[in-house]
Amino acid sequence: MLPATDSPPFNSKPKNPDILDRKASYLASLKPYFSLHHRRTWFFLAVLLLQLLLLLSAPSLPFSIYASTPALNSTSTDTILDSPTCPHGKLYIYDLPPQFNTEIVKNCADINPWSSRCDALSNSGFGKSAAAVISRIAPRDVSGAWFWTDQFSLELIYHTRMLNYRCRTAEPEAATAFYIPFYLGLAIEKSIFTKNSTMAERDHHCKLMLDWVSDRPLFKRSGGWDHFVTLGRISWDFRRSRVSDWGSSCIYMPQMRNITRLLIEGNPWDYFDVAVPYPTGFHPGSTTDVRSWQDFVRSRNRSKVFSFAGATRGYIKNDFRGILLNQCYSEPVSCRVVDCGGYKCANGSSAILEAFLDSDFCLQPRGDSFTRRSIFDCMLAGSIPVFFWYRTAYLQYKWFFPAERESYSVFIHRNEVKNGTSIISVLNKIGKEKVKEMREKVIEYIPKIVYANNNKGLEGMNDAFDVAVEGFLSRVKEQEQGYKWK
Ligand SMILES: *[C@@H]1O[C@H](CO)[C@@H](O)[C@H](O)[C@H]1NC(C)=O
Ligand SMILES: *[C@@H]1O[C@H](CO)[C@@H](O)[C@H](O)[C@H]1NC(C)=O
Ligand SMILES: *[C@@H]1O[C@H](CO)[C@@H](O)[C@H](O)[C@H]1NC(C)=O
Ligand SMILES: *[C@@H]1O[C@H](CO)[C@@H](O)[C@H](O)[C@H]1NC(C)=O
Ligand SMILES: *[C@@H]1O[C@H](CO)[C@@H](O)[C@H](O)[C@H]1NC(C)=O
Repeated sequence: MLPATDSPPFNSKPKNPDILDRKASYLASLKPYFSLHHRRTWFFLAVLLLQLLLLLSAPSLPFSIYASTPALNSTSTDTILDSPTCPHGKLYIYDLPPQFNTEIVKNCADINPWSSRCDALSNSGFGKSAAAVISRIAPRDVSGAWFWTDQFSLELIYHTRMLNYRCRTAEPEAATAFYIPFYLGLAIEKSIFTKNSTMAERDHHCKLMLDWVSDRPLFKRSGGWDHFVTLGRISWDFRRSRVSDWGSSCIYMPQMRNITRLLIEGNPWDYFDVAVPYPTGFHPGSTTDVRSWQDFVRSRNRSKVFSFAGATRGYIKNDFRGILLNQCYSEPVSCRVVDCGGYKCANGSSAILEAFLDSDFCLQPRGDSFTRRSIFDCMLAGSIPVFFWYRTAYLQYKWFFPAERESYSVFIHRNEVKNGTSIISVLNKIGKEKVKEMREKVIEYIPKIVYANNNKGLEGMNDAFDVAVEGFLSRVKEQEQGYKWK
């Protein structure tokens, strides 16, 4: 594994052109602890997902999506502000055939094999309001900014916001970057979880979209370098390289070669994968919402040193999370466990949020993949994340997190924990002042990890959407200045 390199935002270039060729060795290094072929891994993943999906199977209103997302049905450009301040350039949105986006959402009841996704995709991807529950633990004025947001709603959230983006242009000639509003993660969900699905089924949507886009003059002009998509699932779901493997092979298709993907977990060794924050439940409508939330989490009296949220049953012996769990159970005064086994956390974030609000630190081991939405739930609550793998955050969200990782997080190498290092002893060595400083840093970065509930964004603050899109625009400029390989 490469060490974490803290590069400044918008500046993460591949170190050399053969970087993609490292994929093979990267996959090999991944195998010992994360085998994509391992039945048990996928069984656990399936069980977890099933729980998540059961949560979403509450009485659904399939048509609420249209009522609440008028912007999606509109390709008109009259909402575009004539903004003079687009220092990074402007963005053009392809008008894709609806089968690649709106139709997928329209068929929300049929997106996966188990249950309807209609509630999750309602409200432009934010899901239903969680204000009633959150107002029991947080101030009423800011509770309205909380929703039951599904972690896989990224594509819809970005598209909605993009349509209203202040630096959007209807003139391709005036654009720096080109957005392909394709909901691939949603499109493949059914086929990747259907046991007997064929590879052709899993690749179908991606192939159609790539055939469509690569035929456009704008694409041919640049070879795709100034194009990007959002993918609402982890990179591995799109990287099937062999016949019997998991997922779609979308990222490996030749026409995808130069298209940048904004996704919730990337392959850190692939320049074209850019990891962006998982959607969480907090969607501030204004800077006032952000500031009152920041004040609220800053003022908390935290009774626990650390917390751990995860399933507590069904772990195989020696599972790393099992070790953390045991350490937490053996320090009941200092640590709080949120048991997310069964359906306990299935109906949302309030139990988890409460635990994070009451703890100085939260443990963030890898799960079935390297990243988890919990990282963001934790930081939103002003709790300081403790990581055990570089790839959980430092090698992922470089555009969104402070460059100095010690300023906002703690790193304890997993091998030290396996060798008996006690987490509480490491955390207790950190002085009170330092904890306060780190928490302040976490709180300062809250705007950068949320998706605003406002078409114009948070005026005067960059949210995760702004950071991601400006990051991509800057990158295209960089490439134009000669940074491209042949
Ligand atoms: C896959 O399984 C489903 C349900 O078990 C069945 O309806 C369908 O025909 C199967 N498809 C193939 C290609 O075997
Ligand atoms: C990707 O970019 C390279 C270098 O600019 C170019 O040679 C290649 O044709 C592009 N690929 C596609 C599919 O356009
Ligand atoms: C936190 O504790 C201090 C001292 O015990 C108390 O004065 C303060 O009101 C508490 N704050 C909250 C938000 O409960
Ligand atoms: C969430 O589920 C738990 C356990 O099933 C239940 O006790 C609680 O009332 C539920 N909360 C809401 C808001 O539905
Ligand atoms: C853990 O213990 C093993 C065997 O005792 C040792 O080789 C290794 O260096 C230790 N690792 C760390 C990080 O302490």
